[in-house]
Amino acid sequence: MVGWTDIGEARLLAPGEHRVVELPGYSVLVVNLQGEYFAVENICPHDGGELGGGEIEGDTVTCPRHGACFSLKSGEVLAPPAFEDLLCFRVQVEAGRLLLAQEPEEGWS
Ligand code: FES
Repeated sequence: MVGWTDIGEARLLAPGEHRVVELPGYSVLVVNLQGEYFAVENICPHDGGELGGGEIEGDTVTCPRHGACFSLKSGEVLAPPAFEDLLCFRVQVEAGRLLLAQEPEEGWS
């Protein structure tokens, strides 16, 4: 069973904002896209660039190192030089708090 980590008040991550959260074993980029929350791994599978320092435009993030582009909603790689998708993490809001799944979705059973 996957646990959840309370990462703070939802209202503090406004639409268009993002933050990086460190979980045991994972660095996670959490974004608010027009009121919906999404989370993907923060480390680029191409060569370890930190996506939290990249440009977020619409629902995509561009790696600051070599320009690979990823969907923030699905983790799908949209432009090289990366060829692997990002892991995705579930986010939910409970009583005004943001809860982040402690394991990526692919690990869920
Ligand atoms: S490390 Fe991200 S594109 Fe190279």
